[in-house]
This record gives sequence, C-alpha cells and structure tokens, in this order.
Amino acid sequence: MTPAEARSNFPVFERFAYLNSGSAGPLSRRTVEAMQAAEFLALKRGRGATGHWEAAAAIETRLRERIGSLIGVPAENVLLTTSTTEGCNLVITGLRLSPEDEVVTTDAEHPGLLLPLLASGARVKQARVMERPAREALRAIVDEVTSQTRLIALSHVLWLNGHVLPLGQIKQATGLPLLVDGAQSVGAILVHAAVADWYTVSGQKWLGGPETTGALYVADPERMRPQIQSGAASSRTDASRLGLVHLAASMTSGLLAAVEDLPEWGFERGASMVATCRQSLLAAGLEVRTEAGQGTLVSFRVPGDPIELVKRAEASGVIIRNLPDGWLRASVGWWNDESDIDRLTRFLRALPSSA
Ligand SMILES: Cc1ncc(COP(=O)(O)O)c(C=O)c1O
Repeated sequence: MTPAEARSNFPVFERFAYLNSGSAGPLSRRTVEAMQAAEFLALKRGRGATGHWEAAAAIETRLRERIGSLIGVPAENVLLTTSTTEGCNLVITGLRLSPEDEVVTTDAEHPGLLLPLLASGARVKQARVMERPAREALRAIVDEVTSQTRLIALSHVLWLNGHVLPLGQIKQATGLPLLVDGAQSVGAILVHAAVADWYTVSGQKWLGGPETTGALYVADPERMRPQIQSGAASSRTDASRLGLVHLAASMTSGLLAAVEDLPEWGFERGASMVATCRQSLLAAGLEVRTEAGQGTLVSFRVPGDPIELVKRAEASGVIIRNLPDGWLRASVGWWNDESDIDRLTRFLRALPSSA
C-alpha cells in the first residue's frame, strides 16, 4: 500500500490537517468498523455467552502477540492496560517504594508518570533535560543517581519537545531498574522494549487505536509485589496476571485492527515527514525547540495566547495542541503528508506578528 492509499483510510484527513496524534491518533475506517462489529456481536450473541468470551480471549492473545512483536518482546511478558498512566501506576505501586528510596526521572515528564512517582512516597529527583541539548540528557540523568536510587523512570520520547532519551546508555551507565513511558514512542519510532524492565504502550496515540487501550511490558513479573489486583492474579500465570481491567472486545478488536494495519514503511515515512515539518517551521521564521533527528513531535512558539491560537488553527482546519509551558506542538506521523504541513505553515505565516 502506498502512503497515499494508507492515508485515504483515515477520513479525518478529508477535512483537517490532523497533527495531534501525540494526544490521540487518527482513527481509520477499519478500526472503527472492527469496534462496531464487536459491539454488534455482543448485542446479538450476549456478552456473557461462552462463545463470546472465547472469541474475546482469542483477540486478546493475538493483540498481545502483535504488540509484543512490534516492541520486540515475548507476548507472555505483555499485559493489556487502559493506558500508559495505568501501566505506570501498576509498576510504581508494585515496587512499594519508601521515603528512603530515590527515583530518578526528568523535568519533562507527563503527569501520567510523574504523579504516580510523587504519590509513591519516594524522593523524586528530576534531571534537568529541558534546558539542555538532547546529547546532554544522559549526563544530566546519570548525575542524579545515588546509592539510594531504586528506579529510573522516564519517557522514551519527551512529550514537551519530542527529544529521544538514550535508553540503552542510561541502562548501561546505571544498571538500575528502568521504567519507560512509551506513550510518545510506540508506533512512532522503532522500539526495543527489552532494554527496559517495564515499558508502557498507549493504544490511542501512534497506534491509532481506540481510547482507553494500552499495554505494559514486564521483564520479570516476579519482581513486583502488586498492591492493586484483579481476578487475573488467580487465573493467569504469565505477565497478564498483573492486569487490572478487562478490556471490552470492541477496544481490543479496534486496537488489533489498527496495529495490524501499521505499514512496514511507517517509521521511515514518519521520520521524513517530521523533518519536513521542522524545516518548514524554521523556514517560516518560527522559534522551534525540537532538535533534528528526534521523535515525531515538533514543538514551536509564536507570539500570543496559545489556547486561542489552537482554537483558531482548528477553525482553519489545522489540529495541533498547546502545551502547559506555553509552547505549541505538532505531531507528525506516517499518515501525514506535505499538504498537512503546508496548511500548518500557511496558517502560522498568516498570523499577525503579535497574534
Ligand atoms: C509522555 C506521555 N506519557 C503519558 C501520557 C498519558 O497517556 P495515557 O493517556 O495513555 O495514560 C501522555 C499523553 O497524553 C504522554 O505524552
């Protein structure tokens, strides 16, 4: 399938330059049809029928296999979740950290990881990576490690600027347990989750799946002492025994359809489109804080109220988001093309300089 054919499966592009997959990716027709088919089956067959449970279990198995192969880990080590936030909470509560323990994270983490860390009672040390070039992140993180550090917990791709953290080097330099927030990486860039001890997946972003879907890779389920559990703890033996929420068949079916349709050229295409976007914004004279060759997010700034600006952009057919620190963010995936970037750049160029 060519990029143009693949893009035509996402109706949102008929109207919008959709550039906010970092919040929620575009839905394809096939994903929504798979969700609807699962709901209609439940309507007609009865959700508690044995045949229904068996079919749902088969979909879950296929989904865990697909996600495992996408991030390079065995399916037995993958459990399904509703989100990255849930995955982070499962891991952090399961480690039973105490006030004597230290956790090293960064100053660029999303609340989905940061708030569970702060709630853990451990001492949270935030390496200052936002003010540094990407190549200095490793040093900033390693410098926060002490003999009290029990966990390194950070994002693979930073949601505020799209920078990629060097996971392999962080693990090698510290040898410490590593929890990775994969919300902005899985489906966007190539991921080898086995570098970490835990790696989260969000289904609704770069995988284009339904909202409230996700997964968690757990290298060694024995290492955790869960504080929150479900019936899976007694009926399952692999990592899925740590699972909390049984996802509706419409959710698993939709995510499976979306993951099955990821094109093998997706990462290369995403990288090339995001480079084009970054260059266009720079050529338009904007302040861009994302370095070249990072993830699939580009963060930039223009004068004026960012919330108003995002609304104006939407009114002219361009979907981006504002960030809590006042910057703007465009998410550029394999499904985007030059016309989306043109529309964004034209919109920004047309703003009065004091917008
Ligand atoms: C880096 C990062 N972590 C976590 C989240 C939260 O993801 P989820 O809604 O899957 O919990 C987001 C996005 O909203 C994010 O960008």
